[in-house]
Amino acid sequence: MKEKILVTGGTGYIGSHTVVELQNAGYEVVIIDNLSNSNAQVLDGIESITGIRPVFVEADCTDAAALRKLFEENPGIKGIINFAASKAVGESVQKPLLYYRNNLNTLINLLDLMPEFGVKGIVFSSSCTVYGEPDANPIDETAPIKPATSPYGNTKQISEEIIEDYIKSGAPIKSILLRYFNPIGAHPSSKIGELPLGVPQNLVPYLTQAAAGIRKELTVFGNDYNTPDGSCVRDYIDVVDLAKAHVIAMKRMLDRDDKDAVEIFNLGTGRGLSVLELIASFERATGVKVPHKIGERRAGDIEKIWADPKKANEDLGWTAVVPIDETMKNAWAWQCKVTGK
Ligand code: NAD
Ligand code: WQD
Repeated sequence: MKEKILVTGGTGYIGSHTVVELQNAGYEVVIIDNLSNSNAQVLDGIESITGIRPVFVEADCTDAAALRKLFEENPGIKGIINFAASKAVGESVQKPLLYYRNNLNTLINLLDLMPEFGVKGIVFSSSCTVYGEPDANPIDETAPIKPATSPYGNTKQISEEIIEDYIKSGAPIKSILLRYFNPIGAHPSSKIGELPLGVPQNLVPYLTQAAAGIRKELTVFGNDYNTPDGSCVRDYIDVVDLAKAHVIAMKRMLDRDDKDAVEIFNLGTGRGLSVLELIASFERATGVKVPHKIGERRAGDIEKIWADPKKANEDLGWTAVVPIDETMKNAWAWQCKVTGK
C-alpha cells in the first residue's frame, strides 16, 4: 500500500475519477466532501470500479475544527488533492462572498494544517480561466495572467498566489498547480460521471441532455467569431486523462525532492475544437443527432483558447490520449445511465 492521500471534493466530478485512478495506483484515499454539489452514491460507483470503498468524511472544509478532527482520526496523510470549491461562473457573479469564502477558506484551512500533520504536498485544481482571452494560441504556462472576469476566476488566481506566498514564507510543503482546460466525458464503465444540478451551464452536459430529449435543443452561442467555422474553440480534455495527471503529480511531489517547491502545469490536449466540431464528433461517435440552433454570443465568452501541454508532456511524463469520439461516446453512455435509458 502506498501513501495516504486526502481528496477534498472527492465525490465531485473530477474528484471521483481521480479517486479511482489513485486507488488503482495503490494509494489509500480519504475523501472529505460536504455533498453541496454531489451525492454519497458516488462512493458505490468508485467501489464498484476499483473494489475499494474509500474512507468518506462528510464535512465542510471551511470548518477548521472538522478538518483538524479528520487529520487526527486519519493519521499519516502524506498528500492532499484539493478539488473542493464552488465552480459556477455565473453564480459567482451573483454571490461573490460565497465563492471567496468557500474557495479561499477551504484552501487556507488545508494549508494551515499541513505542516502540523506532516502533509508534504498539495495538488491544486486551477483553471485555464486564469489566462483570460489569450494573445496567442496554444498557450503555455509562461503566458501572462489576465484580470479575472468573474469572482470564481479570481478565486483561482488568488489561490495560486496564496500557495506561492505560503511556500515562499518557508512553509515546509510543496505544491503542484494544475490548470485544467475543459474537462468532459465520464468513466468508460458509466459508473461515475458528471451530475449537473438543474440546467447545465457547460456545453457537454447540455449537449447530452438535448440529445436525450431532456432539453429542447442546444443553443450554439455565436457563429460569427474569428474561428474557422465561426463558433468558439476550446481544448476539451477527457476526465480520465485529467484524473491520471493528478496521480502522476502526486507521485512527483511525494517522491522527487529535486523538483521546485511550486510547479505549474497546463492540462490540455493541445487540440482546439469548435462547438460545431464537438457536436459533429458526438453525432459521429453515437449515431445520435443533437438538436441545435445558432444563437447569440454568450456575454464574456472567450473566442478561442487551447493549451500548449508540452511542459506536462515532457516534465510530468503525462499526455492526454483518449480520442474525442471515445470521450463523447462515454459522455453519452453516462447520460443514458442517468436518464435510465
Ligand atoms: P464538482 O462540483 O463536481 O466537485 C467539487 C466537489 O467539492 C463537490 O462534490 C462539492 O460537494 C465539494 N465541495 C465544495 N465545497 C466544499 C467544501 N467547502 N467542503 C467540502 N466539500 C466541498 O466540481 P468539479 O468539476 O469536479 O471541479 C473540481 C475542481 O476543479 C474545482 O476546484 C473546480 O473549480 C476545478 N475546475 C473545474 C473545471 C471544470 O470545468 N469542471 C475546470 C477547471 C477547474
Ligand atoms: C464551452 C463552449 C460556449 C453551452 C467554463 C468556465 C471556466 C472553466 C470551464 C472552471 C463555449 C459554448 C456552451 C451552451 C454553447 N471552469 N456553449 N452552448 O466557457 O470554456 O469555461 O468552464 O474553471 O472557468 O468559464 O466552458 O462548457 O461553458 O463552454 O455554445 O449551451 O461551449 O460558448 O464556447 P467555458 P463551457
